[in-house]
Amino acid sequence: GSISGGCPFSGNGGTRSLLGRTNRDWWPDALQLDILTQDGKSANPLDEDFNYAEAFNTVDYNALKADIKALMTDDQEWWPADYGHYGPFFIRMAWHAAGTYRTGDGRGGASSGQQRFAPLNSWPDNGNLDKARRLLWPIKQKYGKNISWADLFVLTGNVAIESMGGPVFGFGGGREDVFEPETVYWGTEEQWVDQGVETRIIPDEGKALDNPLAAIQMGLIYVNPEGPGGNPHDAEGMARDMRETFSRMAMNDEETVALTAGGHAFGKCHGAVPADQLSGAPEGEALALQGFGWATDADQIRDGHITTSGIEGAWTPNPTQWGGDYFRLLFKYEYELTESPAGAKQWTPINPDPEDMAPDARDPSKKVPTIMTTADMALKRDPEYRKISERFRDDQAALDDAFARAWFKLTHRDMGPKARYQGPEVPAEDLIWQDPVPEGSVPSDSDVSSFKSKVMDSGLSVSELVKAAWASASTYRNSDHRGGANGARVRLAPQKDWAANDPQELSKVLSKLDELRGGISMADAIVLAGAAAIEKAAKDGGHSVSVNVSTGRGDATDEQTDAESFEPLEPFADGFRNYLKTKASVKTEDMMVDKAHLLGLSIPEMTALVGGMRALGAVSKHAKHGNSIGVLTDRPGTLSNDFFVNLLDMGTKWDVVDESGDEEFVGKDRKTGEERWTATRTDLVFGSNSQLRAISEVFAENGGEEKFLKTFVSAWTKVMDAGRF
Ligand code: HEM
Repeated sequence: GSISGGCPFSGNGGTRSLLGRTNRDWWPDALQLDILTQDGKSANPLDEDFNYAEAFNTVDYNALKADIKALMTDDQEWWPADYGHYGPFFIRMAWHAAGTYRTGDGRGGASSGQQRFAPLNSWPDNGNLDKARRLLWPIKQKYGKNISWADLFVLTGNVAIESMGGPVFGFGGGREDVFEPETVYWGTEEQWVDQGVETRIIPDEGKALDNPLAAIQMGLIYVNPEGPGGNPHDAEGMARDMRETFSRMAMNDEETVALTAGGHAFGKCHGAVPADQLSGAPEGEALALQGFGWATDADQIRDGHITTSGIEGAWTPNPTQWGGDYFRLLFKYEYELTESPAGAKQWTPINPDPEDMAPDARDPSKKVPTIMTTADMALKRDPEYRKISERFRDDQAALDDAFARAWFKLTHRDMGPKARYQGPEVPAEDLIWQDPVPEGSVPSDSDVSSFKSKVMDSGLSVSELVKAAWASASTYRNSDHRGGANGARVRLAPQKDWAANDPQELSKVLSKLDELRGGISMADAIVLAGAAAIEKAAKDGGHSVSVNVSTGRGDATDEQTDAESFEPLEPFADGFRNYLKTKASVKTEDMMVDKAHLLGLSIPEMTALVGGMRALGAVSKHAKHGNSIGVLTDRPGTLSNDFFVNLLDMGTKWDVVDESGDEEFVGKDRKTGEERWTATRTDLVFGSNSQLRAISEVFAENGGEEKFLKTFVSAWTKVMDAGRF
């Protein structure tokens, strides 16, 4: 069965590191530049105040599209276009750029131009896309910083589809390039798919796909096109793998069929020569190759003797023309298992009519058989896929619409709210996966202050108010820009029922705030109430702070919410609230760091937030030791640096109390043995880890409380305002 929506850190047993295998493991000899990004020095050469959205909007969009279109048929000798048209190649480039997205943590996707960097530039599945990107350089160079690589990949995919008569739903620009590889968990395997690494789903062995991963083997975008573990006869397993991996990218059966069949209306597979005749992947290749990999000699390339996937052949007789030939052929013929010159398993129609043969990629007068991959065959071998495929075969308009919409979703899914889209081709229609939120209005200063004082007179505690605000805002993910306080979805299913949110308490707080809010939106009210609570808690500690959160949020309805799509946002662990559902395959403190990264926090910000929320008593009721675990203060609800002072006190000796889990600890008076505090791993790591301890010291030392308060308030405000664009 599917485990989508489960813990993003659930594995197949054993503990793993947060990041699994990284570039340094794969390319130990590569030039290590990260030493230069220490001390907060950026790898990004653009000005700090560079605004990409503004820059993009200065582009003559139609001229840009015309340039891209002209490039489609501008044959380059160093990498000639199949059929004289680069379109299919560019569609694959865009699809593989977007296709790394996964719902589990919102990471991957097309939105930052990651395909330029390792490991993605060298994944076996991205074979030869180094050439596709290089073909685009003249256009990137011409438009400069006004068009990012990330936008260019997707827009080029769109122009490719349009230029071959295919349906397109729209384009939103605004993807900002990064200039270094993002550290993303891609898996723990030491080898890649082409090196015989195991497949990640083996039901017989109870092996399920580790969340948040969305590919079946290391180095693939999704599935093995030759079948599970390379077995073309396992039709059931093929469909299972496709269903699981595509659902991790938020695609249902219909979208999966439309995308795969629509994509394979174009282009061909490349497997004309055995792969052992090629050089290595780009990241490890010789300097002289200048970032190219999978090298072979120029004659082979000229003659079309190219190997990418190893499969050889086109799906249709018209590989540069949109139409219904893919499904027509899939159902018209019986297919037999054959082998490509490179040795890959593929399917060939039995006795095809001459007009159903494909042209040779270099010589249109020559005809060659068409093919299907084992993944394509799943579209008729799997009963559910087959129903959809037959419908699309008989209704071209339905396929057109489904493909255009699914392609738009595929390539925009990781951009977050529609407010982030730029340019003249943004579709007017609101789409449910964009998590639409109605426009809010900004309340007056006097309405805000009278609401805040009513809240503080309401009998709700600091802890309750802070927890509700955190529950609302902390779902935000910097990766795909989903979640956050805007929309107040914390009052809707499924969020209102998440264990991490202490549902009963949350519901009590929300109904009270609803009573008091007047014309203020629920989304703003929740955040303002948290701010009021923090201001009061600081005052109780003898400090005057103002928590200046933004306002103007709107409230989303159930109809505007695809509840199921929010399931992956459920915190399995939240170190900030000291919440842990069950022990996972990565350490609890690793999960806190991961969440801090998704919230866009720095190390000092993460540290201040944890210490501050402990002091405010904003911890989950879920821990075994009750709701005082980890607070390390005698006066919960007062904003102070007590957490750090008490944590660093050498008068306390710590012992683990749940030996098996290694999750909970008791701190005893070193002399008397009397119990003083209880704590979790995510508390004690701030005294144990040398870097975190150094920051805890800054917050605990004389004069440090001011610094702590300032850092806490700005980090808190950052989280509350995350997801507003
Ligand atoms: C090419 C597999 C989904 C678009 C290929 C190739 C394989 C493959 C093996 C040949 C690569 C080569 O040797 O050059 C799969 C599998 C899929 C899938 C297993 C999912 C189950 C998609 C999707 C799209 C797409 C969703 C786009 C919407 C293309 C295009 C090409 C291609 C346009 C031709 C590239 C060229 O002519 O150079 N695919 N694909 N594929 N794929 Fe897919």
